[in-house]
Amino acid sequence: MSDRIHTLSGYFHEYQKSVTEPEKFWARIADSFHWKKRWDKVLEWDFEGPNVKWFLNAKLNITENILERHLYTLGDKPAIIWEPNDPEEEGRTLTYRQLYHEVCRFSNVLEKKDVKKGDKVIIYMPMVPEAAIAMLACARIGAVHSVVFAGFSSNALADRIDDSKAKVVLTSDGNFRGSKTIPVKRVVDEALKSTSSVETVIVYQRTQEEVSMEPGRDHWWHELSEGVEDTHTAVETDSEDMLYILYTSGSTGKPKGVVHTCGGYMVYTKYTFENVFQYSPGDVYWCTADIGWVTGHSYIVYGPLLAGATSIMFEGIPTYPDAGRFWAIVDKYKVNQFYTAPTAIRALQAYGTDPIEPYNLDSLKTLGSVGEPINEEAWHWYHTHVGKTRCPIVDTWWQTETGGIMVSPLAGITPTKPAYATLPLPGIQLAIMDPDGKELIGNSVEGNLCIKFPWPGMLRTTYGDHERCKQTYFAAYKGMYFTGDGVKRDHDGYYRILGRVDDVINVSGHRMGTAEVENAINEHPLVIESAVVGYPHQVKGQGIYAYVICDMKNRTEQNLVNEIKDTVNKIIGPIAKPDKIQIVPGLPKTRSGKIMRRILRKVAEGSLDNMGDTSTLLDPEVVDKIINGRVE
Ligand code: WTA
Repeated sequence: MSDRIHTLSGYFHEYQKSVTEPEKFWARIADSFHWKKRWDKVLEWDFEGPNVKWFLNAKLNITENILERHLYTLGDKPAIIWEPNDPEEEGRTLTYRQLYHEVCRFSNVLEKKDVKKGDKVIIYMPMVPEAAIAMLACARIGAVHSVVFAGFSSNALADRIDDSKAKVVLTSDGNFRGSKTIPVKRVVDEALKSTSSVETVIVYQRTQEEVSMEPGRDHWWHELSEGVEDTHTAVETDSEDMLYILYTSGSTGKPKGVVHTCGGYMVYTKYTFENVFQYSPGDVYWCTADIGWVTGHSYIVYGPLLAGATSIMFEGIPTYPDAGRFWAIVDKYKVNQFYTAPTAIRALQAYGTDPIEPYNLDSLKTLGSVGEPINEEAWHWYHTHVGKTRCPIVDTWWQTETGGIMVSPLAGITPTKPAYATLPLPGIQLAIMDPDGKELIGNSVEGNLCIKFPWPGMLRTTYGDHERCKQTYFAAYKGMYFTGDGVKRDHDGYYRILGRVDDVINVSGHRMGTAEVENAINEHPLVIESAVVGYPHQVKGQGIYAYVICDMKNRTEQNLVNEIKDTVNKIIGPIAKPDKIQIVPGLPKTRSGKIMRRILRKVAEGSLDNMGDTSTLLDPEVVDKIINGRVE
């Protein structure tokens, strides 16, 4: 059964119902799933605690809704089509039946390794079907997965292992990424030196490179799977049992573990997937994200598979072996819905349209965008050269914390406007707030984006620290979830996301806390203090500009800059490496010692004429020194 909306008036009608009778609305959507036991109550909530529960006391297993549910109707249909990094290597297709057996087999493997309901399992793997199989096997046995993007360093991995107290790590020998091979197992080995909770490491063989295996702890995936039963009875979970933890960056230094639970997340990801992309049975859908990010969780694995869709999983990068790779894949599999990030579009735009020419993109029906604001130029390029002006673009705004898409056109239904995420999905009650905590009513207003009412896919807590969840999201505006984003509602009532208003930056669609990068920089022994800001970057959306006070010792500036970049690489990973580092004699601080970031942002973006009021600075002269030493 599908709850797909088909017309614009249908959307308004559903939206109205979702606001006037939210419980009835979501109960109707939830009714189309397989529950082992139905809920006693649809919703219980307060945003003070916060305390949010959906489908109370319902019992289910999310993988039964992906696997058993589709076995008899879609058993021979492809669930996952895998395209390897190297186009010369053969891809793989897993039908729903094959996926069922693989997930069952690996569930048995995990149980044999004594992984139980509630145990935490870190997944640090390449984009291979086994990564999705691993996630689903965890969900099937009631274990909690925490996928860590395989580009994170051993330090970052160790932090996440420690915070989640993971018992198991699933990884590979190495990863193929473009022309590079990344020694993933070595990173895991390094991380495990400084952590103590992990008892078992299971290694999927991908690159065949030599790795060290610690007896008793490390096992090969294929060896453990040999001769193991390929059927398994799914464990019963409560609607509010944890499904996964996903670490994401915030304004403070330490990444936090966003917690999603089984029932609500299931209902929300399927509903939003079907409606936003207007997926029809038989379509081939492709989301280019990595499973290390929430987009990969909700819109490569859970949403599409819950909807019985065919979901492509791509191991490689957009520019390998050349800048036509995405279009080659679209052509090869006759992709109907294509979902990517603005940073990828801008990167490909730089190669012009030649790489697109050789390929037939007629199969495309819908284009999606996610992760950061899409600028108008990129929007038009995408629309004209990829979508040949036929395909609606769904600019989907959401966050790790929201679990699924919140504001977006419904493909082909909602009239689009370049750079606008347009209208909220049914069930999503937005509020625009001014700095004094007053809600701005009516159109043509701009302020901070909040959400007034719970939705099934929302985060429940931040792992191990509920107070942090409260302070980060529910304290700024009483009774509301604060997103951290600025937003404009135009004269038509359309929403345009303006970007973060907190100390979070968005680099190539990756969320990064400036404090997190500063902490990493400060690990360099010669660094005394640092301040990091974002600045507009042609391809990445935002680049990272770091101002650093150092003890130079005998280093040249260039040496020191390189060393600092290496330090960040080691502490977080290549995605956090500053684009520009300026060694400064001091930072613009107020008398109370607060860094005036406004000034640093202006210098970084090159708007040097008006620095605003600097009279409260302890040492106003430092501003000129910073301007003079600006890195172009
Ligand atoms: C930004 C990614 C503008 C936003 C799903 C948000 C966007 C943060 C859009 C969440 C969009 C995401 N338009 N900005 N369509 N989508 N963002 O947690 O600032 O990695 O708060 O989730 O990305 O990033 P996250």
